[in-house]
Amino acid sequence: MPQSFTPEKNSNIVILTGAGISQESGLETFRDPDGIWSKVRLEDVATPEAFAKNPHDVHSFYNMRRERHRVATANPNHAHMALARLEAQWLGQVTVITQNVDSLHESGGTQNLIHMHGVHSKARCNHCQHIVSWEGDMSTETLCDGCGDAGGMRPHVVWFGETPLELGRIQAALVECDLFLSIGTSGNVYPAAGFISVVQKIGRAHTVELNLEPSLGAELFDEGRYGPATDVVPSYVDELLETL
Ligand code: APR
Repeated sequence: MPQSFTPEKNSNIVILTGAGISQESGLETFRDPDGIWSKVRLEDVATPEAFAKNPHDVHSFYNMRRERHRVATANPNHAHMALARLEAQWLGQVTVITQNVDSLHESGGTQNLIHMHGVHSKARCNHCQHIVSWEGDMSTETLCDGCGDAGGMRPHVVWFGETPLELGRIQAALVECDLFLSIGTSGNVYPAAGFISVVQKIGRAHTVELNLEPSLGAELFDEGRYGPATDVVPSYVDELLETL
């Protein structure tokens, strides 16, 4: 793999993040040996079919996850804060596209942020599509303050088999990107896992994977920086800012 490169000062940086960037803030990842999907079947809690069949189990899962995220959100780590520092000081556009449904990028200071899998901090009504901020537990008795119905309220997160959010905005960012970073994601879930191929096909960007270990798509990147996100991300950001 060619070694690191120095982007133009006003180049556009697109950063994809996954659960690995939040792991050192105390949130489990999904597919690590002790990950979430080793404790519960995603087919039972993270699909529209599961919600239709057994909404109580889905609500219980997300009520527990929402509480975990609420606690962790006060604890953005040095990787989240390094990305916010990059966005604040970089002369070109910095866009963070996260698969994560936690609010750690926001609490770490990132502004230009796309939550392609939704967020735990919002709820949506299946009946009228009304979206509201949401803190506490939710159940089949929860009333929608849009249509007044019960039974339709669900987490505003994207389940397997559903279309991720803001794909148009994401595509526009990938087309214009000069430097593509992928941080803390295993490369298991599409379309996010396919962004590296989109960027490669356009042929304009230098691509770097920053992860605890090589992901499924590691070979597609120009460079790999491996280790805990709180080590490799701040040091890579420092390298970029030193070129200014
Ligand atoms: N620092 C850097 N990387 C880490 C760390 C860490 N401290 N801890 C774990 N990782 C890496 C793992 O090596 C793995 O490659 O983060 C990645 C986490 O992978 P997954 O658990 O598969 O999470 P993610 O890629 O975000 O999953 C994508 O799948 O279940 C769905 O919707 C869910 O958004 C999620 C999507």
